[in-house]
Amino acid sequence: NWTMDRFIDEEAERIRETVGDKRVLCALSGGVDSSVTAALVHKAVGDQLVCLFVDHGLLRKGEAEQVMRTFRDRFSVDVRMVDAKERFLRRLKGVTDPERKRKIIGEEFIRVFEDEVGRMGDIPFLAQGTLYSDWIESGTETSASIKSHHNVGGLPKNLNFSLLEPLKSLFKDEVRLLGKKLGLPDEIVWRQPFPGPGLAIRVLGEVTEEKLELVRETDAILREEIKKAGLDREIWQYFTVLPEIRTVGVMGDQRTYDYTVAIRAVTSVDGMTADWAKIPWHVLEKISTRLVNEVKRVNRVVYDITSKPPATIEWE
Ligand code: XMP
Repeated sequence: NWTMDRFIDEEAERIRETVGDKRVLCALSGGVDSSVTAALVHKAVGDQLVCLFVDHGLLRKGEAEQVMRTFRDRFSVDVRMVDAKERFLRRLKGVTDPERKRKIIGEEFIRVFEDEVGRMGDIPFLAQGTLYSDWIESGTETSASIKSHHNVGGLPKNLNFSLLEPLKSLFKDEVRLLGKKLGLPDEIVWRQPFPGPGLAIRVLGEVTEEKLELVRETDAILREEIKKAGLDREIWQYFTVLPEIRTVGVMGDQRTYDYTVAIRAVTSVDGMTADWAKIPWHVLEKISTRLVNEVKRVNRVVYDITSKPPATIEWE
């Protein structure tokens, strides 16, 4: 009879046997899978674990701090945070095509990762949050093909790591339960899916610091209100998008010409298909009011009422 406690004991023992007295690297993204992986490996081998967290400047408000608070302060894990904001912004300058953005971000991530690993000395093991569903999708059992299908963290294949994939037999709901057992906070355990390229694909067109700031601020308000309304677990993903649209508005007796912000919220089981979420109007109203009142340069809010297909969840 399988229990989560037994899983933790057995898996930790297996990790200790494999690793011996060597070091293990884990790339934290802030997401559920990598966080639970890190927590489990930490439980198994303590300070033989080193985590790397690349802040590419495309994260949501408070996210980098949250990861550091959890792992460095609460778990006392050795986390190296790399502030790579400038690097990513520079490479994204002038780029408007969504697929180009993705490619650049993926490549730059690998470069930053390699640079850091080069400085870390001998670390033979890499722990990855591959789940059961990930390896079913990748189609091979020997999934040395590093979880790249959709995540930043298509990590470099030429670095000679032995992979540890302790979540390989688990489903998402089991991973959340495991995270809970290991003492991870709800914000991480219940985090909504977030794309690797982050806010770069929610700022349509060229990515600039100003536009990122607008998406970050509006997204934070949206998340707060969705949570307050108790909808945060039933809506699969909810976020704001900044289209390249400015429209005329009126504020006091002043004409404004400012940004339109779009709200995207969908229900889904696996992200493959999705329905637009029927958020109650009074919740939308509150969100809209707060967005225009609290975020400078926003004068219009629209709600995306398309499902997937034909639309995708993200706008880019
Ligand atoms: P779409 O927009 O294709 O999104 O309906 C389906 C799910 O995938 C996420 N998504 C991504 N995740 N890198 C990622 O790691 C990406 O480039 C990417 N594009 C979309 C999206 O957030 C949704 O959960």
